[in-house]
Amino acid sequence: MKLRKMTKRDLKAVVSLEQRISKYSLNEQEAAAYLYSASIMSMVVELDKEIVGFSFVSIKNDKYVIQRLGVDAEHRKKLIATLLMNHVKENATKSKDRQTIEYVVREKNLGGQLFLKRHGFIAIEVLKEYWGNEDGYKMVWRPK
Ligand SMILES: CC(C)(COP(=O)(O)OP(=O)(O)OC[C@H]1O[C@@H](n2cnc3c(N)ncnc32)[C@H](O)[C@@H]1OP(=O)(O)O)[C@@H](O)C(=O)NCCC(=O)NCCS
Repeated sequence: MKLRKMTKRDLKAVVSLEQRISKYSLNEQEAAAYLYSASIMSMVVELDKEIVGFSFVSIKNDKYVIQRLGVDAEHRKKLIATLLMNHVKENATKSKDRQTIEYVVREKNLGGQLFLKRHGFIAIEVLKEYWGNEDGYKMVWRPK
């Protein structure tokens, strides 16, 4: 299993993975905009030359904001998301200005909420109808 920076050659595989795991997936143009943005870290996890996980994380002035983080359903519970998350945590821990990691998780995404909880995130705010008629929970992590 290998964590590395995303390149433009990965875009099709990342978008195809997103479409398989999310009803609200990015299209190729949106994913390309993330990839080419200087203020977004774009990472993939490769297993046997296949892209099995990815993340897009915004670098804000005072925090990291996870925009997307997903793992192929066939490869879950192998700590692939943990590998992606630990990379963000390492950056936050080393940073002087950006120690907080934030993610707004959908109210109905219990799997995502459990994953974040296990990673030490706490819910700090309910964002009412953040996605149309679905609430979002703003969850944050800070180093101890
Ligand atoms: C949430 C998600 C990223 C986890 O990916 P993963 O590679 O399976 O996660 P890991 O293997 O690193 O999981 C670590 C722990 O998180 C928890 N966890 C992960 N997925 C879970 C799920 N679907 N339901 C309940 N708990 C889950 C478990 O406690 C797991 O530990 P365990 O294996 O000891 O039980 C993956 O299910 C996914 O892509 N979901 C759809 C996209 C999404 O929700 N993204 C938001 C991420 S914050």
